[in-house]
Amino acid sequence: MCGIVGHLGPNNPMDTVLEGLSRLEYRGYDSAGIAYVDDKSELHFYKKKGKLANLVSLLEKEKHTVVGCIGHTRWATHGEVNDANSHPHTHGKISIVHNGIIENAPSLKNELASEGFEFQSDTDSEVFLALVTSNLKNGMDFLPAVSEAFKRTDGNSAFVVLNAETSEILAIKRGAPLVAGLHEANSDASVSSDPYALVGSSETIYFPGDEVLVLLSKRHNDIISFYELDGTESKNYKSKKQEMSLEATDKGDFEHFMLKEIYEQPGLTRDLIQFYLAGDGADLLNKVSAWKPEKFHISACGTAAYAGMVIRDFIEQRNRIPCAVELASEFRYRNPLLREGEVGLFISQSGETADTLAAQGLCVENKMKTLSIVNVEGSTLYRDCDENLLIRAGIEIGVASTKAFTQQALTGCLLSYAIAGDLESEEKKKTIADKYSLLAERIDDILARVDELKKIAEEIYNYNGFFFTGRGQYFPVALEGALKLKEIAYVHAEGYASGELKHGPIALIDDQMVNIAIVGPALFDKTISNIQEIKARRGVIVGLGPKGESDLDDICDFKFDLNFDGLEELSPLYVNVANQLLAYYMAKFKGTDIDKPRNLAKSVTVE
Ligand code: G6P
Repeated sequence: MCGIVGHLGPNNPMDTVLEGLSRLEYRGYDSAGIAYVDDKSELHFYKKKGKLANLVSLLEKEKHTVVGCIGHTRWATHGEVNDANSHPHTHGKISIVHNGIIENAPSLKNELASEGFEFQSDTDSEVFLALVTSNLKNGMDFLPAVSEAFKRTDGNSAFVVLNAETSEILAIKRGAPLVAGLHEANSDASVSSDPYALVGSSETIYFPGDEVLVLLSKRHNDIISFYELDGTESKNYKSKKQEMSLEATDKGDFEHFMLKEIYEQPGLTRDLIQFYLAGDGADLLNKVSAWKPEKFHISACGTAAYAGMVIRDFIEQRNRIPCAVELASEFRYRNPLLREGEVGLFISQSGETADTLAAQGLCVENKMKTLSIVNVEGSTLYRDCDENLLIRAGIEIGVASTKAFTQQALTGCLLSYAIAGDLESEEKKKTIADKYSLLAERIDDILARVDELKKIAEEIYNYNGFFFTGRGQYFPVALEGALKLKEIAYVHAEGYASGELKHGPIALIDDQMVNIAIVGPALFDKTISNIQEIKARRGVIVGLGPKGESDLDDICDFKFDLNFDGLEELSPLYVNVANQLLAYYMAKFKGTDIDKPRNLAKSVTVE
């Protein structure tokens, strides 16, 4: 949520920042802005409401030699979406960008306004600028001025500060994502909200701890240095080589990243099984199983929470270990019953979702072991948990999560096999591998029949509302199907348990409502009865179910055949791919911005 980036050094700081911002745009795109210092120590800044492209067109005539640059892409929290509230916020020779929320901003703002600071925006972020400039005015050096300002802020935030006087950049964070990157030659250095923004510009990535000041400066031997808040040198950071490649940041022949990511799923399924059965992953799964959890508390947000429900079913059915699944934003404040011996399981694509991180912290406070199922290695969640099962989905760029859901659920399923002791036997491992490859084949089959789904999407996209229904193991994917559609097609959609629709929502059914009914082999007849209830009220039925079942075929207005044979428990993931494609093509017919849907951000770092 909000992307921040900074670059110091001769390798085109402005272009590097703009490139970084374009990669961070998934974090928010209400506005974008940059500030830079030129070779005469002059500060320049530009900011514009709307997507990054609006900002880029302002910069076409820029001719100065840029020495250092910072930039921001905004997902508005405080203050409406306009140019004034866009970042950077600038005063004199100082410019700042911010990601997070300054919780005590109102009181600080009153104090600083009474001291004469003239605020130009409605944001909480500008308070930090006012604190830094007031400290500098009172004679502090740059580093203590930022450090003292930071100490006065409450809440989770990351800040990047450009000082045109000294041509230096300082960055600091608490509970918000921030990484630094070093160019091999020690000539250039960057900071950003995530390593993905630095692909191509940095060879080494640093992960500073909370409250560590990261200084980019030409005045020191090392262009990057780390300090504690008291100004002493800090060792509280980790580093690793940049492993992401530029190729992963490209859409290839696909029109959207979302579509590319949907198509990656069969290949990723095959890679995942390879890693966890034949590679290093098996040891990790066995290590976690040895914890012998008495209960799992699964906590996550959005799509990841629905993957959590799928995982709950895997674990409860196979291992008979109780699993509670809760939205992290509820779990963290509900004072849940947590005991040592129980395990907190956190599911997240980004590993940076504020509520999920807080839920993890709560489990640690309660002396529980914590495990993540996460995509981004090195993310905050990854660093905070005792163990991590990487879902190995590669970079997911489309804001609406697709491949991460599948990989999260499949990783959770492997955990359940490991707990059952099935990874001890070669024969059982082969059976598991066969199931995963059958799933990959079936997904391939859906992708090959994409035109059928496109046709259905074309027929239904203009209806008033959509109920995705399913029973049992298909209920979580009904929820996920509806979420996908809402996110990218901006239509009202709800996921419902098939048997529950009659307890209220059926009042909404008329000939302008569509029921996307997931019908699996289990409870087939009961699910058909539920569809009949919708049909009797003139609802439009899209059936996703087995082939050749006349009871189903006869009541469907549109039907997409699915082959469940041999897939048993993995079939929700297979059905979900059909839902992903339906949502994608409905959004395409609606003409929405599929990869960057309005109002959303991929990484939600505020609660
Ligand atoms: C945001 C995204 C969703 C995602 C959720 C959780 O709302 O738009 O796609 O499912 O955050 O994100 P996480 O990174 O924790 O999986």
